[in-house]
Amino acid sequence: MNSNKYSSLVKEIFEQISLPDNAVVADLGCRDAGFLVKLQQAFPGKIKSAVGVDINDKGFKNVKYKKPIILKVMNCSEKLEFADDTFDFVFTKDMFECVSDKAFLVREIHRILKPGGTVICVNCDWDSVAYNGENKELISKAVHAYAVTKQPWMDDLDSWIGRRMHGIFNKSKLFESTVSVHNVVETEYKEGTFGYELSKDIAWLFEENTGALSEEEYKEFIGNLKQAQSDGSYIFSKPYYIYKGIK
Ligand SMILES: C[S@@+](CC[C@H](N)C(=O)[O-])C[C@H]1O[C@@H](n2cnc3c(N)ncnc32)[C@H](O)[C@@H]1O
Repeated sequence: MNSNKYSSLVKEIFEQISLPDNAVVADLGCRDAGFLVKLQQAFPGKIKSAVGVDINDKGFKNVKYKKPIILKVMNCSEKLEFADDTFDFVFTKDMFECVSDKAFLVREIHRILKPGGTVICVNCDWDSVAYNGENKELISKAVHAYAVTKQPWMDDLDSWIGRRMHGIFNKSKLFESTVSVHNVVETEYKEGTFGYELSKDIAWLFEENTGALSEEEYKEFIGNLKQAQSDGSYIFSKPYYIYKGIK
């Protein structure tokens, strides 16, 4: 989790977390353990143990984390390798959309939480991402194509996962549920911003010959963003749904 880009989102999430003393916490789909490191800084001395899991260890290399954080390779599409009633707090961000049986994962999160434990599940609603620029149809096409085109490492993909999250948990009737939305807004198109990095990621649509966006369309899309930046009309917004459930 890149701390600068996510700072307003992290602040909003942390306002919703309260940990007991000697808290036992987990991050599912943690990639580089960035969230757990920040949690440890925000709640000094409160955390007894913290485990970050991911389907692969690509993000674990060269990560600076310290005890009590440990990292494990685990597939969250399967039964989680944790005992019942283990955690005070389970966090997961931008991972649920990759799992095909979401109801099963909801039940697994419920199983591994202690009674009274909290889950926070944060998901971008990819189909609601917005850029300003001249060519409305093209920009909408690029954003939508990126949102709905499944990448090879994903088991599943739902471009509406943000708006669906509350319902996915709430239907289970296992949690006391609340939801809020945090919009990350940027007004500059420059390296290191969400909008810039996402615009670069969108290139894979033509690079991998997905058929969803041509190279010419991609170049025009980038040209639109640069033009908006130079005339002062650039804006990027990315909504994150923050689901909170108490067992
Ligand atoms: C978009 S990244 C988000 C990473 C991190 N949570 C964050 O917000 O910065 C999705 C992460 O979920 C992991 N992931 C995808 N499917 C998974 C699964 N079935 N089990 C565990 N991790 C998974 C990916 O490897 C990746 O690290």
